[in-house]
Amino acid sequence: MYKFTDRRGAIPRLLFATRVAFDEIIQRYAIAGTIAVREKFVRGAAAAGNESEKTMANKSLAKGPSDTCVLVTGGAGFIGSHTCVELLNRGYRVVVLDDLSNSSEVALDRVRTITGIDDDRLAFYEASILDREALDRVFTENDIDAIIHFAGFKAVGESVQKPLEYYWNNVAGTLVLCEAARDHGCKNLVFSSSATVYGEPEFIPITEDCPKHDATNPYGQTKSMLEQVLTDLYVGDNEWNVVLLRYFNPIGAHESGLIGEDPKGIPNNLLPYVAQVAVGKLACVGVFGDDYPTSDGTGVRDYIHVVDLARGHVAALDWMGGKVGTGAANTLGTIAGEPADDGTRRGVGIFNLGTGTGSSVLDVVHAFERACGKELPYEVKPRRAGDIAENYAACDKARDELGWIAEYDLDRMCADSWRWQSQNPNGYSTAAPIA
Ligand code: NAD
Ligand code: UD1
Repeated sequence: MYKFTDRRGAIPRLLFATRVAFDEIIQRYAIAGTIAVREKFVRGAAAAGNESEKTMANKSLAKGPSDTCVLVTGGAGFIGSHTCVELLNRGYRVVVLDDLSNSSEVALDRVRTITGIDDDRLAFYEASILDREALDRVFTENDIDAIIHFAGFKAVGESVQKPLEYYWNNVAGTLVLCEAARDHGCKNLVFSSSATVYGEPEFIPITEDCPKHDATNPYGQTKSMLEQVLTDLYVGDNEWNVVLLRYFNPIGAHESGLIGEDPKGIPNNLLPYVAQVAVGKLACVGVFGDDYPTSDGTGVRDYIHVVDLARGHVAALDWMGGKVGTGAANTLGTIAGEPADDGTRRGVGIFNLGTGTGSSVLDVVHAFERACGKELPYEVKPRRAGDIAENYAACDKARDELGWIAEYDLDRMCADSWRWQSQNPNGYSTAAPIA
C-alpha cells in the first residue's frame, strides 16, 4: 500500500509551488548568477501567462537518439524500467523522474547493469510530478526533447477506496507535468493509457476507433480524462505532438531476470499472483469465474511481454520524429496534424499495444506451469466485479504506422516472469548487490 502523504510532502509542496510567482523563481536563479537559467524562466513565465506559448516552437525530434534526451516519469516502475533499457540500448539519453512511491531505485541500478551504462546517459531525480519546482529543475538541468509519461497510481481496487488520491496524483500530476513541459518548450509526449478506456468493448478485436466507454473505477477514469486533456492540448496549440498508447495486459520481465514487476502486498493482477503461487509465497490461484462465454469459461485477455511494450515506446518516438509511418492508418482515432518543416509530427496519435491474441486465465496458469516445471493449485471463485469476459487488440495500426509488432508469446512471457520471480522472490526489497 502506498502512503499518500509521501515522505517529501508532495501535495503541500505542490500547493506552495504553484503559487510561487515566476518572478520570485527568476530572482532566486539570478542571484545565483545563472543568467542562462534565468532566461529560460523568463521564457517560461511569458509562456505561462500569455499568448506567446502558442508561438513557442516545440523541440525537434528529427535527430538521432544520441542527441535526444527523454524524460521518463515513473521510470523506476515496472514498464518504465524496461523502457529505460530499450531507450538506452537504442542510444537515447534518459532522465528518470520517480518519487519511488511504488518502486525502488534498485531497479535503476539494474538498468545500468543490463545496459552497461553507468554515466550521465541515465540520470535520476527522486521527485513527484506534482512538484513544480522539481520539474523546473529537471527541465533546466537537462535539455529534454520528449517525455514518456508513466508516473501514476494504477491499482483499480485502491482507486475506488481513494479516488481523491488517484485524481490528484494521476490527473493533477499530469497537468503540472504538461504545464512545466510547455513552459520549457517541450511538447512531445507519450502517455501510458490503457485498454480500460474501451470498457465493455463494442467489438473484438478492438481497434483504436472502438468507442470509449465510461470507466467503472477512478483509475480508469483518470486514463480517459487524461486522453481528453492531452487531445485538448493539441487542439489549443498545434505544436503538441502526443501519442496515447493503450496497453493491453503487460506481463513478463527482462530476460536477464534482473528487473520485473514488484507489486506491493498481495497482487491484484493475475500474472504476479500466479508467479507468487509458483514461488510459494501464496497458496493457490483464485480463478475469478469459469462461466464466461469463452473457450474454457474463464476470462480472456491480451497479454503482452513488457519488453515488447517497452519497444513500442521507442517506436512511438520514431513515429513522432517522422522517421516511420505512412500516415495511411491515421484515421483510426488519431488526429493527424500538419507535420513541422523538419518532418516531426504534430497531432494526437492513438495506438493499441497488444499481441492480437487472447489467452484465458487457465491458459496463463498452464503456461506458467510449463515455465516453472510444476503444477500450480487453483480454485474457481465467483466472478470479480467489473470484469469483462474477453478483450484483445487489433494491432494493425501499430504495425503499419509504428513499424512495431509484438514478438514474444505467452510461454516466453511466463518463462521470463518465472526467472525474475524465482531470482527475486521478494522483489527489490531484499535485493542482493549485483556482482
Ligand atoms: P508502476 O507502479 O510499476 O510504475 C509507476 C511508477 O510511477 C512507479 O515507479 C511510481 O513510483 C511512480 N510514480 C507514481 N506516482 C508518481 C508521482 N506523482 N511522481 C513521480 N513518480 C510517480 O506501474 P507500471 O505497471 O509500470 O505502469 C506504468 C504506467 O502504465 C502507469 O501510468 C499505469 O497506469 C499504466 N498502465 C499500466 C498497466 C499495467 O498493467 N501495468 C496497464 C495499462 C496502463
Ligand atoms: C486489470 C484492470 C485494468 C488494468 C489492468 C492492468 C480491473 C477490472 N481491470 O485488468 O483496468 O488496466 O488490470 O493493471 O481490475 N484473474 C483471476 N484471478 C486473479 C486475478 C485475475 O482469475 O487473482 C482474472 C481476471 O478475472 C481476468 C484476468 O485474470 O479475467 C486478468 O486480470 P488482471 O490481471 O487483473 O487484468 P484485467 O482485469 O484485464
